Amino acid sequence: MMPDPSQPPARMQANMVIRNIGQLVTVAQHPVAGASGPLQVIENAAVAIHDGVIVWLGRSDEYEPMFHHDAGTALSEITIIDAQGMVVTPGLVDSHTHLVFAGDRAEEFHLRRQGVSYGALLAQGRGILTTVKATRDADTKTLTDLASARLQTMRKHGTTTVEAKTGYGLDTITEQRCLRIINNLNAMEASPLYEHSRVRVVPTFLGAHSVPPEYRDKRDVYIDLVLEEMLPSFIGLARFCDVFCEREAFSLDESRRILSRAKELGYLLKVHADQLSASGGARLAAELGATSADHLDFASDADLDAMREAGVVATLLPGCSYTLRSPYPAARRLLEHGVYVALATDFNPGTSYCENMQMTLGLAMSAMGMSLEEALTAATINGARALALQDLTGSVEVGKRGELAFWSITNYHEIGYHFGVNLVHSVFIAS
Ligand code: NIG
Ligand code: FE
Repeated sequence: MMPDPSQPPARMQANMVIRNIGQLVTVAQHPVAGASGPLQVIENAAVAIHDGVIVWLGRSDEYEPMFHHDAGTALSEITIIDAQGMVVTPGLVDSHTHLVFAGDRAEEFHLRRQGVSYGALLAQGRGILTTVKATRDADTKTLTDLASARLQTMRKHGTTTVEAKTGYGLDTITEQRCLRIINNLNAMEASPLYEHSRVRVVPTFLGAHSVPPEYRDKRDVYIDLVLEEMLPSFIGLARFCDVFCEREAFSLDESRRILSRAKELGYLLKVHADQLSASGGARLAAELGATSADHLDFASDADLDAMREAGVVATLLPGCSYTLRSPYPAARRLLEHGVYVALATDFNPGTSYCENMQMTLGLAMSAMGMSLEEALTAATINGARALALQDLTGSVEVGKRGELAFWSITNYHEIGYHFGVNLVHSVFIAS
């Protein structure tokens, strides 16, 4: 609401105020006072936060209210952060990553340069299964250190919420170990810049990533293991259940069985859908009311209509197309179908070995023809939507958590345009 400048400034409780923001890009869902443009950009802005929640934002010069910590506390006791004229956006939301694994697949990357396909490597028992072996062999400390270092890199590039999938254990013990590691990361991460800074990590169980080698000739037994043992015992450890619905992985019927059971047990759902072929995954996501369907390179118009009707977020992962040298997802077609489009890195050792959401933003604009406004929305609020966290994060709005990216640029139009370098100065995550 636009305050009346003729009235004395309101008093408001806050224990932190961020001032001197050159441009505040809110990506707000609701109109904000003093803002202009589709992304609602406020010049010379400030944000006030109380107990981690945004309580006020607006222009810092004319309209800023009086802040107090609690009754009788002076302004000087409020933490004031000087943004030094930087651009501030919502912290980026990376809603699709395979964060926990050991080893690398550089050899396979270079074999693919010689023409060997990703699908062919998978069919030979390499690909995902190369990483399964390395992950099973690694101890918990090694896996934790690797995941933690990757999370640091993500944060340095502006990410404040990360979804993290299992799927390189593929036995009950290793899948559970990976889920515990993911859950523990939430308690461990602390920024060197702001000691209370924590990246939110959202756990996803992806036991149906590939059939492990010991079950190659008895895939039904592995699926039963996922249904009867893993899913029931991981309740509370994973927010989402995901399935790789693909010719080389799990069929449509197998995916439906696993996701239906997961839904009964209270998991939210995601689907790796129509990545390498028209697998039917997008339609299944709509049928089961999944939160998101991801990849969608081969989804048909009818699939996209079904997703829109069911409110399934379409998560696009251009890092995969870049790495696999395959056509980019048809972002414009998805946008025209009116589905919510999110962007994520798909960080993993096979198809997208990149922690940096700025790279994803750049590819979305340069290779997929998304506008800056569409891409930033996809990398923030729609990423939050893809995690069913849109009431908590993904935009700078009163009532949301204070989770911000500070960019060392003077105009947000540099995002996507100035590429291949890190434009983010730091992130701020209120505790
Ligand atoms: O999202 N498609 C399945 N899973 C990953 C790749 C995982 C891997 O190759 O290790 C993906 O592209
Ligand atoms: Fe993936």
